[in-house]
Amino acid sequence: MHLSPSLLLPLLSLLTTTSANVEKTIFLAPSPVLVPALTPNLDDLGLQRLSPSSSYLRTQLNASFPTTHDDPTSDPTTDHSNRDTGTDTWYFLENLTPGQRYEVRLCWLATQPTKFTLTTHHPHTTISTPALLTSLTLYSSLLLSTQPPKPLAAPLIPDSASSSSFAPHDPTLTSDSVLFLRVRAEADYYSLDQELMRSVPPVVVDVVLDPYLGNVFPRSLVRTAGWVVLVAGLAAGLRAGWLGRWGGWLLY
Ligand SMILES: *[C@@H]1O[C@H](CO)[C@@H](O)[C@H](O)[C@H]1NC(C)=O
Repeated sequence: MHLSPSLLLPLLSLLTTTSANVEKTIFLAPSPVLVPALTPNLDDLGLQRLSPSSSYLRTQLNASFPTTHDDPTSDPTTDHSNRDTGTDTWYFLENLTPGQRYEVRLCWLATQPTKFTLTTHHPHTTISTPALLTSLTLYSSLLLSTQPPKPLAAPLIPDSASSSSFAPHDPTLTSDSVLFLRVRAEADYYSLDQELMRSVPPVVVDVVLDPYLGNVFPRSLVRTAGWVVLVAGLAAGLRAGWLGRWGGWLLY
């Protein structure tokens, strides 16, 4: 068994790096729907997209402090959910395999304390639930008003592509397994800095769409599992004295 120190270093850093937070949602991809027929202006929403072939985004999310319902003048029967519980960001998940299990993971730095809630919504549900539709429409209109010249869905659109629309290559109806993903971000800190309490800085996040292998393990974690097995083997090797020389080197 041959091991070099250059291999040990990344292993050790893997074991000690825990400064990122993770939140996720696990779901089964739904049956395909005719996308344009159900949501006539889907492409005009300007949402960032995730698909199995474009499964990673590094982006900034707006967050806000949740406000409480203690105000006696507010009517508790009215749905204020969007305004009262942080800030919503919407994504569009597409090209999913119907019946396949996926997870979407959100990773962010522990130095930006935030409570994230991830939920996926079928297009039918999104459009027929007023609270969801309101939130999506609000987000989309904010996006479109602030981002007209530069499409956000950069990973899917080559630089040379038209920047004025997200029109699919085929303008007729397409049948696809799609979901909306809502990410609700609530600031989760207290600071003496008045400015930080007044306006919450955007949170830098990585968003990852990951299919489960055999519907059991997220694909990208299988490699990590491989590392864990290797580390366990290394420890066993040290104990058994296989690695006599390297073992001694490690202990001093
Ligand atoms: C995010 O927050 C900034 C600053 O408040 C605002 O200008 C922008 O429109 C927001 N973006 C979205 C998509 O809500």
